[in-house]
Parts: sequence; structure tokens; C-alpha cells
Amino acid sequence: MGRGAQALRLARAGHSVTGLESDAGMLTAARESLASEPEGIRERVRLVEGDCRETGVHFLPGSFDVVLCHGVLMYVEEPDPMLAGLARVLAPGGLLSLLVRNADALAMRPGLAGDFGAALAAFDTATYTDRLGLTVRADRLDALRATLAGIAAPLHAWYGVRVFTDNVDDDVELPADERERVLALEDRAGRTDPYRGVAALLHLCGVRG
Ligand SMILES: C[S@@+](CC[C@H](N)C(=O)[O-])C[C@H]1O[C@@H](n2cnc3c(N)ncnc32)[C@H](O)[C@@H]1O
Repeated sequence: MGRGAQALRLARAGHSVTGLESDAGMLTAARESLASEPEGIRERVRLVEGDCRETGVHFLPGSFDVVLCHGVLMYVEEPDPMLAGLARVLAPGGLLSLLVRNADALAMRPGLAGDFGAALAAFDTATYTDRLGLTVRADRLDALRATLAGIAAPLHAWYGVRVFTDNVDDDVELPADERERVLALEDRAGRTDPYRGVAALLHLCGVRG
């Protein structure tokens, strides 16, 4: 769940949301964000402290229509058992939505930033240093496609995320019309070959059979 950015968006859009988070500090931050929401939204969100590698401890099989795992797989050493656990809690026809760092294009960030040595080195690794300075994992599309097929949630669609904006800080303020243009550009590129294949992040959608 992290601080709850996506969870709160979904709750504001009318969905009932369960947020699972292993870090007590993050959970506190999520609780604080939630506290400033109107009651109608607060009552749609349940927070659970726990490890997403152990979904069976907290949830019954088939209990969710959608499972989002965004920005988490990079911190998990062995993704396959965790993904199997997430697929198990999906109802038939449910959607497993993953956002992962794209291991097939790790040279793009340092290369476009002018760090050519790091860009060359990135061809031979599937790890990278994140914005917090942690060395973490990236994932390859083909490997995840095979994993999703193996856990009965085959890949239904995939998109690139941050094709042109990976080196732009999150807190950069843009005028509204420029922001709309950037979002339209990213949306278009993220759905279009060959651009989506070199995006910084991949958004994968598996559907439970
Ligand atoms: C980038 S944040 C998630 C953001 C959130 N998905 C969103 O889009 O709003 C990553 C979070 O995953 C949590 N995390 C990492 N490993 C985990 C695990 N095994 N079980 C539960 N949470 C985990 C971290 O504590 C961190 O808060």
C-alpha cells in the first residue's frame, strides 16, 4: 500500500479497498492520509499490516476482484511465490495489476542522463539503484508473462510507463496544459511499439482464469 496513493484514488472513485503493507511507518503515513479524507471514503478503506508474500494469513482465496501490486516487486527477492499468493486471492475473472521496473531497458535512465559508463554496465544486470539509494530488482516482460501463465492469471495486456519522463522529478510543477500534453504523450507511447518496450516501468495486467 505504501502511503496509500493508489488506494485512496480507488476509494475516492467508489471502490472498497484493502491496503496491505508490511512497514509500520508506512502504515502510519497511510493512516494519516486516510484521516484527512471524508468519512464516506474512510469507511471504504481497510488497512492491514502484513507481508504480501503471505496473503493466505490474511485473506480467503478468491476474495478480491482486483489486486494491485504497484512498485513492490522490486523489493521482493523471489517474486514467483508472491505472485502466486496474489493470484490466489483473486476471484475468477479478476485482474492482477503489476507495476514493475523494466529490466529490459535499464540502460535508458543512466544513458539519457549522460552517465554512459553506468548505461553500459546496465546491460549486464537486472538490478538498479532506486531513488532511495537501495539496490533493488527489475523484471523482464517475458519472465513475468511465463510466471503469470503458470499461476493461472495469463497476461491480458501490458503498457509502458514513463517512456519520456523517467528522469523528471516527481515534484516538478507543470502548467495545466503542458501537464495534459505530457500525460497524453506518455499514454500514447505506453500503448505503442516500440516505445513501450523501453519504458522505465511496465504495467502488466493478468486475468485470473
Ligand atoms: C512504492 S510503495 C507502494 C505504493 C503503492 N502501491 C501505490 O501505488 O500507491 C512500496 C511499498 O511496498 C512495501 N513492501 C515491500 N515489500 C513488502 C512485502 N513483502 N509485503 C508488504 N509490503 C511490502 C514497502 O514497505 C513500501 O511501502
